Amino acid sequence: MVKMLNAAPQGNPALIKWVQEWAELCQPNAIYWCDGSKEEYDRLAEECVQSGLAIRLNPEKRPNSLLFRSDPSDVARVEKRTFIASVKQEDAGPTNNWIDPVELKKTMTDLYRNCMNGRIMYVIPFSMGPVGSPIAKIGVELTDSAYVVLNMAIMTRIGTKVLEVLGAGEFVPCIHSVGKPLAEGESDNGIWPCAPMDQKYIAHFPETREIWSYGSGYGGNALLGKKCLALRIATVQARDEGWLAEHMLILKLTNPEGKVKYVTGAFPSACGKTNLAMLIPTLPGWKVETVGDDISWMKFDDNGYLRAINPEAGFFGVAPGTSMKSNPNAMLSCAKDTIFTNVALTDDGDVWWEGIGYDAPDHLIDWKGNDWKPGQVDADGNAVKAAHPNARFTARANNCPAIAPEWEDPAGVPISAFLFGGRRPSTLPLIYQSKSWEHGVFIGSTVGSEVTAAALDVKAGTVRRDPFAMLPFCGYHMADYFAHWLKIGKAGEAKGNLPKIFCVNWFRRNAEGKFMWPGFGDNSRPLAWVFGRCEGTADAKETAIGYLPTEDAIDRTGIEDEVSAADLAELLKVDVDGWKAELAMIDEHYAKFGDKLPAELKAQLAALKERLA
Ligand code: OXD
Ligand code: MN
Repeated sequence: MVKMLNAAPQGNPALIKWVQEWAELCQPNAIYWCDGSKEEYDRLAEECVQSGLAIRLNPEKRPNSLLFRSDPSDVARVEKRTFIASVKQEDAGPTNNWIDPVELKKTMTDLYRNCMNGRIMYVIPFSMGPVGSPIAKIGVELTDSAYVVLNMAIMTRIGTKVLEVLGAGEFVPCIHSVGKPLAEGESDNGIWPCAPMDQKYIAHFPETREIWSYGSGYGGNALLGKKCLALRIATVQARDEGWLAEHMLILKLTNPEGKVKYVTGAFPSACGKTNLAMLIPTLPGWKVETVGDDISWMKFDDNGYLRAINPEAGFFGVAPGTSMKSNPNAMLSCAKDTIFTNVALTDDGDVWWEGIGYDAPDHLIDWKGNDWKPGQVDADGNAVKAAHPNARFTARANNCPAIAPEWEDPAGVPISAFLFGGRRPSTLPLIYQSKSWEHGVFIGSTVGSEVTAAALDVKAGTVRRDPFAMLPFCGYHMADYFAHWLKIGKAGEAKGNLPKIFCVNWFRRNAEGKFMWPGFGDNSRPLAWVFGRCEGTADAKETAIGYLPTEDAIDRTGIEDEVSAADLAELLKVDVDGWKAELAMIDEHYAKFGDKLPAELKAQLAALKERLA
């Protein structure tokens, strides 16, 4: 028996047995059951500082905040090493990596054997969603990383209160190891532990609802409540139980008369989801408050409304580009009680990153721990970044000034509209509304975003299709997931309270390559149109692609110089030639799904072709 540092809670023999079995395999020095207390958080934070893994930031600048620097190879989610190990390969579909689950478990069991030597195994009971909410799910993560415990304490609700609700019930078992056992007397020496790339595995077993992660300590690979449970495993549960688990922000929109609507939005990475969730409207009298910035779980209530909860309790946001101008609410969220990962350190113990909104001081320590000066270039003459482009802040949702008072309501909030969008320099208008639920599912299934060669191994200027912004997050066959969305529409249509579906594009460029729409707070203008469409008060014209705002339906007051009437007309027109090229790309995208593609979506594509002919 591996020794326990504190007493195991009673009441769930299956949980205790499972923990002991994993401890026998991984052979940590000891097992520690997390209680979720402040004392525990402070103690683990101090241990990370004492061991050199974390730096405590200047409490006068960033109270109660830490900076971690990861290994330079362990800075992001690893999609190539992420697997949906369903029993049958066809159930993972063409968009996921698959390995036979028996084979994968054998490989990973060999890796897990003795992998926690010299470390503590932390047991983290966590709730995705408010503790006790009927929509919430409970998981238990075993990890040998104190960094993971600290981040989970911010991103989810952890500890004794979760076990009290769990009782003898079922939980989603999640195993995590950094994959770096220590020899007798060895320590990390302040260096972030992880395994080489070919030993990293982020594995999901959808039939048994298990998550096994090995070799990475970073964010989405290691905080198993987020992408692994709340999306990949939850999509499978949602399919089986008739609800939706989505990569969507949730915002509360209040009009000048004080009427409220809740809107969710799915956008691929780097399309401004956190900024939209926290925006400060430039349209007088309007208000946006945040319910969530990344994930939405939605279930029907008795009136046929889809009610959404944010299963998370914090924000795991990208730091570079976040400033008091682009997102003041995010900046204020990470003003204290925050874990920073891979940002730069100032000489006075604060943080800095590219796009923070003010110049770098004359000297910094960069994300790799090296001295850095403004204008520094590498041997090839390229600018050296002080912060990694995917550097993150882990901040408490409760510290966000724009958090909606009802963000933790266990019953969730009723959703009136879904937005789908991507980064599209041409063709897609600023905003349009689908003709029907089925047409909306067609739009969601074809979402694309422009990529740069630097960001992904795809030719610059090409469009990467990212259906429902779920490409890396759907735990089963993507065409079956489309079918599930169609089924949700059928289930909800009788009551007539299904959300309306919109497509938005803040990223159109003109012939000179300049953005045509100011974005950020001015996105409140299209949002006001969405509100009006849901109320039945906003004007629209029916076109081949869907309902477009009439030209005066988007309020330009105050931005007339920036966006002329002609610009807005251009942003709201149907570019028939562009759409014909788009149709060819959709054909190619849909071909991947073969016979599994639902007939309704084939029919939607055929009808769009006909309308544009
Ligand atoms: C995230 C992501 O970190 O989508 O939220 O990658
Ligand atoms: Mn995300």
